[in-house]
Amino acid sequence: MKYIPEPFRIKTVESIKLTTRAERQKAIAEAGYNTFLLRSEDVYIDLLTDSGTCAMSDCQWAALQMGDEAYAGSRNFYELEATVQEYYGYKYFVPTHQGRGAEHILSQLLIKPGDTIPGNMYFTTTRQHQELAGGTFVDVIIDEAHDPASNHPFKGNIDLNKLQAVVDRVGPKKIPYLKYETCVNMAGGQPISIANLREARAFCDRYGIKIMLDNTRTMENAYLIQQREPEFRQTPLKEIARLIGSYTDGCTCSGKKDGLVNIGGFLAMNDEEFYTRAKSMVVIYEGLHTYGGMSGRDMAAFAQGIRESADDNLMRYRVEQTNFFGDLFGAAGIPHVVPHGGHAIFLDARAFLPHISQEQFPAQALTAAIYVENGVRAMERGIVSAGRDPKTGKNHMPKLELVRLALPARVYTQSHLEYAAQGVVDLYERRHTIRGLKFVYEPPALRFFQGRFEPI
Ligand code: F0G
Repeated sequence: MKYIPEPFRIKTVESIKLTTRAERQKAIAEAGYNTFLLRSEDVYIDLLTDSGTCAMSDCQWAALQMGDEAYAGSRNFYELEATVQEYYGYKYFVPTHQGRGAEHILSQLLIKPGDTIPGNMYFTTTRQHQELAGGTFVDVIIDEAHDPASNHPFKGNIDLNKLQAVVDRVGPKKIPYLKYETCVNMAGGQPISIANLREARAFCDRYGIKIMLDNTRTMENAYLIQQREPEFRQTPLKEIARLIGSYTDGCTCSGKKDGLVNIGGFLAMNDEEFYTRAKSMVVIYEGLHTYGGMSGRDMAAFAQGIRESADDNLMRYRVEQTNFFGDLFGAAGIPHVVPHGGHAIFLDARAFLPHISQEQFPAQALTAAIYVENGVRAMERGIVSAGRDPKTGKNHMPKLELVRLALPARVYTQSHLEYAAQGVVDLYERRHTIRGLKFVYEPPALRFFQGRFEPI
């Protein structure tokens, strides 16, 4: 097990507090057994998400002072635009407040009612926006992605036979684009390969179908390509990231992950007409096209964050830290998704709690139990997150029933991770005492954020 020492030193610290088990039992009951409804102050080590929870660098904090807060034409807009062009390779750039702002504009502009959008597994907000625009998402990821134990190195890849079947069934005119996500979040942060992307591009070109990337975790994916795809062993991350972009027609991005900022996102594309339409829509929902919901200083920190994220040493540390964390679970025989991805470790709640049926939300129950055990906050990524089919009203029943322990970038140290893993190991020995849950409040959309439960 190797832990790469942090390629930075710590200049500012934030206190965290460990509560008692009794306090945590009370807090989780008050939160309806949903870690999204806990107060952050009641959490010791917060592995809920890597989204917007990263630590900024001294250069990013300095960049905040360089914010040009003009309503129109801020200097930082032009800086961020040039950075996106340089690092991701797209011609046009539209800023948004975060990733889902970009998904909203993309979906409303490209999807028509009755369209089908194939993609390498769903993401919660992405699919919601596709459905709101009248589209239907179809999963075309390789089968291995649905198997937590499969050792396939690129479990984010698309199965071209599945894609062919969708094209044959609905016809290419009903497919506005193929959604291609880097480091597929819901599959366990699983990367795509350049080889697969090349094949998908050739396939889509035959049918005149666009490819839209979700490049939220592209730098992490670039690192895993460097490690796992021999052709790119010596290629710098920046070049790999540009190469990924070059096979696609545009992207949505949540800057809150790889972008190393607490807020921000964008939509980017190569097509001028699409750009013009996106610019006229962003002013309705996000803000003027030169800030899109971000302040000038947010854009300054975001541009600097993108530059830092392409640093090979930083990304190596980040992904190998995740790998180290996963190895702690592996060494203790805790079922979890392998190979380890870039941003999080995902426990296999089905295998952890075989006595709880999927309708009794094993991953939700395990997430709550981990919090009570050691004050570590994780997130459910199973049947609750998957939601219901809008046509039939029935629960989606995902094969993956996971608990995600995400690592905010540059925030926690080796001992934090060892502490977090130990609590799960201790709980594993008492796993038979964990009971299933039932909904007491189920929101109509994205139910995992605000749903409330009680033990059965
Ligand atoms: N795409 C992916 C792959 C994401 O992981 C997220 C957010 C989004 C889009 C939406 O971006 O939050 O900036 O609006 N993921 C967070 C998470 C919420 O915890 O994984 P956003």
